[in-house]
Amino acid sequence: MSYTKPFLKWPGGKFRLLERINDKLDSGRRFVEPFVGSGAVFLNTNYRKYLLADTNPDLINLYLQVQNNKNSFIDYCKSFFIEKNNNEARYYKFRKKFNTTTDVRLKSALFLYLNRHCYNGLCRYNSRHEFNTPFGRYKKPYFPKKEIENFHRASQSAKFIHSSFIDTMKKTKKGDVVYCDPPYVPLSKTACFTDYFSGGFGWDEQIQLAEWAGKLAKKGIPVIISNHDTDNTRNLYHDAGAKTEGFLVRRTISCNVNNRKKIGEILAVFQPA
Ligand SMILES: C[S@@+](CC[C@H](N)C(=O)[O-])C[C@H]1O[C@@H](n2cnc3c(N)ncnc32)[C@H](O)[C@@H]1O
Repeated sequence: MSYTKPFLKWPGGKFRLLERINDKLDSGRRFVEPFVGSGAVFLNTNYRKYLLADTNPDLINLYLQVQNNKNSFIDYCKSFFIEKNNNEARYYKFRKKFNTTTDVRLKSALFLYLNRHCYNGLCRYNSRHEFNTPFGRYKKPYFPKKEIENFHRASQSAKFIHSSFIDTMKKTKKGDVVYCDPPYVPLSKTACFTDYFSGGFGWDEQIQLAEWAGKLAKKGIPVIISNHDTDNTRNLYHDAGAKTEGFLVRRTISCNVNNRKKIGEILAVFQPA
């Protein structure tokens, strides 16, 4: 089966897990993703309406630009993907511009430029919320024209919000189907930091998420959560009332992209009683 690819590179992207996730999703009127990331799951489902949220404001602003302007915004983004912009000096100049500009259209176009020219597509910010991923040294970064067009089309039935997961879950109602892909729990103490905007999504947040999922299921709203398969996540989701399924996925799990291993992933399914 062929799947629609997201236009952003995104750590933790669920592209390779789509079949398993789709298998478990109920039908419903609206699909809600409190941690939308690159939108891999949204792009490959077929609901009438979508509520898509993330705490990264740069991501949500870019999606709003893509949703509301197609060709003019694509041409504008493409103008940054030229050979003379693919070097360290230009990259750091654009990174600085991204961190200082108040022009949302420019900032969104630069977010896409940075995503495709930075090291491993990592989205990392410092404590002042300045993007600080280094230059990626790619020969010819790909401009995802077709992928942006697909996203534009799909986004016409979506509402994007900049919101933390609890506020998003509070907005759900019967008829919704919720899929949650939070930042992964670390596999080990030495696992490298997952560079999400949140500035930290710790065990307390994982507990809150599981409790909210249990609460929504009791109200008749099905919820699925994905995560690493560890004793802690298994126990957490069982205690909150879910059925779980574990499986192995080939992934880059350390800071070294060449270090690819099969690791355990879990899907926790919270079904209404
Ligand atoms: C694992 S990624 C989601 C990946 C997505 N499913 C995909 O296929 O690309 C987790 C996302 O959660 C967002 N995030 C982190 N903390 C959050 C929070 N407290 N509430 C909502 N979103 C959050 C991050 O910005 C990131 O985009």
